[in-house]
Amino acid sequence: MATLHPVPAEWASRAYVDAAAYAEQYRRSIAEPEAFWREQSDRLDWIKPWTKLSQCSFDEANFGIEWFSDGTLNVSANCLDRHLAERGDTVAIIWEGDNSEHQRRLTYRQLHADVCRFANTLKALGARRGDRITIYLPMIPEAAVAMLACARIGAIHSIVFGGFSPEALAGRIQDCDSSIVITADAGMRGGKQVPLKANVDAALEHCPSVSSVLVVRHVGNAVTMADGRDHWWHDHRESVSADCPAEEMNAEDPLFILYTSGSTGKPKGVLHTTGGYLTWAAMTHHYVFDYRPGEIYWCAADVGWVTGHSYVVYGPLANGATTVMFEGVPNYPDHSRFWEIVDRHQVNIFYGAPTALRALMREGDDWVKRTSRKSLRLLGSVGEPINPEAWEWYWRVVGDERCPIVDTWWQTETGGAMITPLPGATDLKPGSASRPMFGVVPQIVDADGAVLDGATEGNLCLTQSWPGQMRGVWGDAERFFQTYFTTYRGKYFTGDGCRRDEDGYYWITGRVDDVINVSGHRMGTAEVESALVAHARVAEAAVVGMPHEIKGQGIYAYVTLNANEEPSEDTRKELVQWVRKEIGPIATPDVIHFAPALPKTRSGKIMRRILRKIAEGDTSNLGDTSTLADPSVVDTLLTSGR
Ligand code: PRX
Repeated sequence: MATLHPVPAEWASRAYVDAAAYAEQYRRSIAEPEAFWREQSDRLDWIKPWTKLSQCSFDEANFGIEWFSDGTLNVSANCLDRHLAERGDTVAIIWEGDNSEHQRRLTYRQLHADVCRFANTLKALGARRGDRITIYLPMIPEAAVAMLACARIGAIHSIVFGGFSPEALAGRIQDCDSSIVITADAGMRGGKQVPLKANVDAALEHCPSVSSVLVVRHVGNAVTMADGRDHWWHDHRESVSADCPAEEMNAEDPLFILYTSGSTGKPKGVLHTTGGYLTWAAMTHHYVFDYRPGEIYWCAADVGWVTGHSYVVYGPLANGATTVMFEGVPNYPDHSRFWEIVDRHQVNIFYGAPTALRALMREGDDWVKRTSRKSLRLLGSVGEPINPEAWEWYWRVVGDERCPIVDTWWQTETGGAMITPLPGATDLKPGSASRPMFGVVPQIVDADGAVLDGATEGNLCLTQSWPGQMRGVWGDAERFFQTYFTTYRGKYFTGDGCRRDEDGYYWITGRVDDVINVSGHRMGTAEVESALVAHARVAEAAVVGMPHEIKGQGIYAYVTLNANEEPSEDTRKELVQWVRKEIGPIATPDVIHFAPALPKTRSGKIMRRILRKIAEGDTSNLGDTSTLADPSVVDTLLTSGR
């Protein structure tokens, strides 16, 4: 029986939404969608208001997802221009560098001017509405500036996380045919340089579509600038106009592409559009964090992930918030760093990932307790299941038993929070993402698609569209439908397993497909496998997740070497390095298990169920192995080398 943390009385009385209001708003969002979404979309400034609410169907015959489709607006104008009259001098972004002495504060007015200059620079480099622009930047204000500048001129940004390798970057540039890449000389993480510009140079050897690279000077390291192709942002900044009208965009025009891993093939370009996405990001930021004007809000995610898109940049800025951007890592220069930032900037709302909390928890309470944290009033969790121990530590040690914790379940595909407590409305159960956001209709089904009612466990689907839903896979319309809407006909399948308890609370149990979640970063096992088999000495590879105390899940790779190769420690190290080079450090395998052969069915399909069990160390009950082509393979696996 989970401990229940009831809504604190002062939260129930002063939050935007209490329990009764949640019930009523939720009811309205489903029963009276026209009126409900009119109110919610009115958070934004529309150039032309919409008259058509939505045309959505998850059925093959008339498949389609459109929201507010005849309305027009501009995302950058909504995040900047409309705030200028009332809060032009309010700080929009507080930035803290990897080195804590590096700090910057940008007001809405300054941010607006910089975005306009950046947008004019992009135009001078030939960028037009609809063009794709790849952003490969560290966590610096220019990342937000670049995003908003793209939005301003109607270009589609595709951010690639700075931890991805040149190979991974090149694949993402090629997939969407970017014409411009925005990067920095380098980034800083934990005192070490990340050679972003050098990585771009290496990637561009394979990317003929790129005509220009715009480079932000950040670290000041020496970089090579290719004549005619590479341009310093600061050279342009001084000469371009700070006036750039915002393009009038249709609600369904693309805003960004973000690559994410699936269970098969290469990462797919998740496409989000303008009106629905921003409505969803702004609405959820407002309710989930109960954001009040003047508060300091900090989401510790990188803009390279969807959390950074929706909750570092778009949601908070649409709501006129002050958002903190942090370049560094939680344990540099020491384990107090997060909480020192909270004190230094008087952060009221902190939103982070369980993996960081687990790592900090292991270092002991002193690192936290030596800071004040009195400014905090709300905590959030995102990206992976939070185990009850980490939850309780977050509550007790970080929040001093004073701050509600919103455990928000969502995905790159959903644009924003989908199942989440609202701090004034929801009694909290540690480890449960609790209840659906307005307009979200979860359904739990069994493997055959039968709907399971009441307290139950199964696979999580969503039966209705919501404005923040992804609209497509870039360049592959068929893949969108195939990936999400064919497992259970007429429903969006999340890929997550889920339990619903007797109080109607949802508990996400983790991915049920071949996606693993490593430190809150989503990784396709197929991607790591294809990196491994690309190595000259590898014949075959199968990758599964394994439980990992800090990362949530680790990467466990079974590798079969070519016939004449012997496993060795050197080969093991070489393969680990190889995967880091092919994908990036986030894909570093935790275990390489040399396997003379992999367990396969007679039709040649690898039986991952068995591989998962062995990786979990749960070998007592491997289940039915009689369908294997050669059952003795399993015995060999149990004795072969990790
Ligand atoms: O398995 C779920 C897990 O992260 C997946 C989505 O990953 P991504 O698209 O990278 O987005 C992460 C940031 C929203 C989900 O399918 N996940 C995310 N949040 C939670 C979670 N699992 C449990 N609890 C959460 N709060």
